[in-house]
Amino acid sequence: MAIPIELDHGSGQSLQGQIFEQLRYLILGGRLKPGTLIPASRVLAEQLGISRNTVLLVYERLIAEGYLQARKAIGTYVNLELPETCLAATRRTAASVPVHGETAKPPVIPFIGRMPVKSSAQRLDFDFCPDRIGLDLFPHKIWRRFINRIFTSTGTQFTESCDSGGLPQLREVIAEYLGVARGISVSSDQVIITAGSQEGLNLAARLLIKEGTRVAMENPCYRGAASLFESYYAKLVQVPVDEAGLDVTQLPEDGAALLYVTPSHQFPLGFTLSNERRLKLLEWARRCGTYIIEDDYDSDFRYRGSPLTALMGLDDHGCVMYLGTFSKSMGAGLRLGYLVVPKALIPAARAAKALLNNGHAWLDQATMAEFIRSGAYGNHLRRMRSIYSKRHDCLIEALRRHFGAVQLSGLESGLHLAWHLPADYPDASELQALALRHGVGIYSIGPGLAHDFGTCSFSKHTLVLGFSCLNEHQIRAGVRRMADAFAGLPANSVSAGADKRSLSGSPL
Ligand SMILES: Cc1ncc(COP(=O)(O)O)c(C=O)c1O
Repeated sequence: MAIPIELDHGSGQSLQGQIFEQLRYLILGGRLKPGTLIPASRVLAEQLGISRNTVLLVYERLIAEGYLQARKAIGTYVNLELPETCLAATRRTAASVPVHGETAKPPVIPFIGRMPVKSSAQRLDFDFCPDRIGLDLFPHKIWRRFINRIFTSTGTQFTESCDSGGLPQLREVIAEYLGVARGISVSSDQVIITAGSQEGLNLAARLLIKEGTRVAMENPCYRGAASLFESYYAKLVQVPVDEAGLDVTQLPEDGAALLYVTPSHQFPLGFTLSNERRLKLLEWARRCGTYIIEDDYDSDFRYRGSPLTALMGLDDHGCVMYLGTFSKSMGAGLRLGYLVVPKALIPAARAAKALLNNGHAWLDQATMAEFIRSGAYGNHLRRMRSIYSKRHDCLIEALRRHFGAVQLSGLESGLHLAWHLPADYPDASELQALALRHGVGIYSIGPGLAHDFGTCSFSKHTLVLGFSCLNEHQIRAGVRRMADAFAGLPANSVSAGADKRSLSGSPL
C-alpha cells in the first residue's frame, strides 16, 4: 500500500517533520484506520526517495506518542487505542496540514468526542479486564429457546415500528425488578430502553448539557461518561473519592447542572457510597437544583452484606436518573440497558430517544422481557453470582499468596477490584506494561480505563483487576505469571505499602 505523502524539499520544514505531520493527519483523519499495517520503513523510504533512517526516526516518534504500535516480527500498525494526547492534536492537524491528493480541506467538524478505549484490544493469555464477561457464562441454550419461541409466535412485529421508549413488557419487568432488587419504586413509563448505559448517558446529556454546562464527576471516574460529557462541551468539575465513595464535603458549593456517580461500586476504585453520604448528596442536589445520574452498572453482583438502597430509591424530589445495563449480567454485546427518569423528564426523554433512533430492536427486547418474566433471569443471576463469588475469592487469595498482605478495595460487590500498590512499587502504568509483555492484562487508572483529572491520589499506585472473564484456574495461573513478571521488585514492599492511604473499608 502506497501512503499518500508528499514531501516539499524547499519548504524549510525537515523531512522528518513533514512525514510525521502527514502520517499523523492520515491517522487522526481516519484514513489510516486503527490496526492498519503501515509499510515497512524500507518500503516507505523507497517510495519517498529518502534515507530509511529518516523514516525509522519518524516511526519511533509516532510509536512514542501513541499513534503507532510495533509488533515484533510482524510490523508496525496504527495503534488500536489512540491516546488522549493524540486527539488533542486533531483539530490543529486537520486544519493545517496539506496532504498529497487533496484539493480542498474538509471542514473541521465541531464534534470533539473520542472512541472509548476498550481495556483489552488484544487477546492475552490472562486478561484481568474489567469490562468483559466469560463467553461460557452466557445462557446460550435458554436464550436461543426464547428467541425461537418469540420469533415464531409474534414475529410479525418486525414489520411494525416499536414504542421508541422501549417495549412495554420489558419496561414493566424492569420497573418491577428495580422495586425488589434496588428499592426503587417507579412506573414503567419512567423506564427508557437504551443500547447499554452509554446510550442512557447520551440521552441524559442530550436533555441537560449544552456548551459550558457544569457536570460534576468522581475523580477518577468512568471514561465512557467523561468523554461523552466532554463531547457535549460540558465543563467537568471533579469531586474526590475516598473509602466511603464520593466525598460529599467537596461537592461544588455553586452547584452543577448534573452529577454523575457510581454509588454501588465506585468506578474504578470499587468503594461503596455510604448511606449517610447518599442522603447528604441528595440534600446537596436539591439545594443546588442538580440532576444526578446514578450509574448502577454492576450492582447485581454483591458478595458481602446487603445492598444499600439506590439513590433513586431515596430520592423524593425527582432529581435522580438511574442508569442500568445488562452488559455485566448478560454481556456487553447484547447492547441492552435502560435509563429511568424522574416523572417530570418523561416526555423530554422519550422525545430525545425517538429523535435518536426511534427505539430499540424489538426481538432483543422481547427476548429479554420473557427471560426476566419467566424467572430465567433470576436463575441466571444466582448462577453468575455463585461463579463470580468464587472467582472473586480466588483472585484475592492468589494475590495474597504471591504478594502478601495486599491492600484491596471494592471487595463487596462488582466484577473487579482495585489493588493499591505499595509506595515503593513502580507506577501502576509501568506494571501494566510489564505484565502486558508477559501476556497478562492488568489495568492502571490511566487513559484506557478511567478518566483521572490529574489530581487523584490513587491513580499512580492503583491497579484494576477484573475477574469475570477468567475461570479460577486461569486466575491462579495469571496471578502466578504476573508474580513472575514482577520478580525483582522490592521484597517485602507490600507490607511497607501500609502507607498514608487508609483503606479501612478494605479487609486485608
Ligand atoms: C462505570 C460503567 N458504567 C457502565 C458500563 C457499561 O456500559 P454499557 O452498558 O454501555 O456496555 C461499564 C462497563 O464496563 C462501566 O464500567
